[in-house]
Amino acid sequence: MGRTSKDKRDVYYRLAKENGWRARSAFKLLQLDKEFQLFQGVTRAVDLCAAPGSWSQVLSQKIGGQGSGHVVAVDLQAMAPLPGVVQIQGDITQLSTAKEIIQHFKGCPADLVVCDGAPDVTGLHDVDEYMQAQLLLAALNIATHVLKPGGCFVAKIFRGRDVTLLYSQLRVFFSSVLCAKPRSSRNSSIEAFAVCQGYDPPEGFIPDLSKPLLDHSYDPDFNQLDGPTRIIVPFVTCGDLSSYDSDRSYPLDLEDGSKYKYTPPTQPPISPPYQEACTLKKKGQLAKEIRPQDCPISRVDTLPQPLVAPQRHSLLAPEMEDNEMSCSP
Ligand SMILES: C[S@@+](CC[C@H](N)C(=O)[O-])C[C@H]1O[C@@H](n2cnc3c(N)ncnc32)[C@H](O)[C@@H]1O
Repeated sequence: MGRTSKDKRDVYYRLAKENGWRARSAFKLLQLDKEFQLFQGVTRAVDLCAAPGSWSQVLSQKIGGQGSGHVVAVDLQAMAPLPGVVQIQGDITQLSTAKEIIQHFKGCPADLVVCDGAPDVTGLHDVDEYMQAQLLLAALNIATHVLKPGGCFVAKIFRGRDVTLLYSQLRVFFSSVLCAKPRSSRNSSIEAFAVCQGYDPPEGFIPDLSKPLLDHSYDPDFNQLDGPTRIIVPFVTCGDLSSYDSDRSYPLDLEDGSKYKYTPPTQPPISPPYQEACTLKKKGQLAKEIRPQDCPISRVDTLPQPLVAPQRHSLLAPEMEDNEMSCSP
């Protein structure tokens, strides 16, 4: 596949590069903001699960005015620096990371906490949804420590079987909870965003990082909320029909007249897990699989043992031009 094929298949990937965003996810936050005016009056924000950093780019440009805003970005992975953004590398489900974030906001709470966290997807839907829920709840836990009353929390959510339980937990802390789907988020993905406005914890609530909000013993009966406990939140689509459809392929010269010119990624990953494999491939040292159909039958028995890739490396190096994080749906 040529290096332009992803630009054709994914118009938001292409536009992100052309507009200097580190990932196509930037459009999701921009479209959410257009619908909910998330950045109005915001000067302090936390970006959880922030790498490679397109949401942090949006936040640092949009809040506070003249770069006076304060953004703290957190991710498991290292992220290239961004002006005006304080970075913490760590796991948001770990107490130590949560404490480090909270430290930045002592005495001066945040107006907005966002979380675009996605676990490494396994393909086992129940497991993926559960992991996603845990990330959201870890983010909510941190938000309860740093958000000012009336503040806003936006988090990626998988609209799976147990999503109403998550909505119920969010409604405990916020006066308004909505489920939003930006146009740049593919319809084929169960991803959406919980937009929670008006932080208003119950009277007497004392945030406690040692108590996760959702019990880890995931009892399926408990999660079937019925009657008054069943919360149905409004579903809002963001971005009008004139915006690009993220599920469509577009010709390289767009209908709006933009001429195509290949743009490299804004910020290549700084230490991707596949880096070593790419170096080996460049040097021609990456083991190749020998397929039986490539050998005459008479030779198969006489061949030496098939070459094996060094442990932990895949046989195939990923496409070099696809530098966006693979987690971004
Ligand atoms: C979809 S990407 C985020 C994209 C980002 N919003 C942007 O605009 O560039 C999801 C991120 O979640 C991070 N992540 C997953 N689990 C995490 C955890 N437990 N703690 C911190 N970050 C995590 C991944 O490392 C990945 O960078």
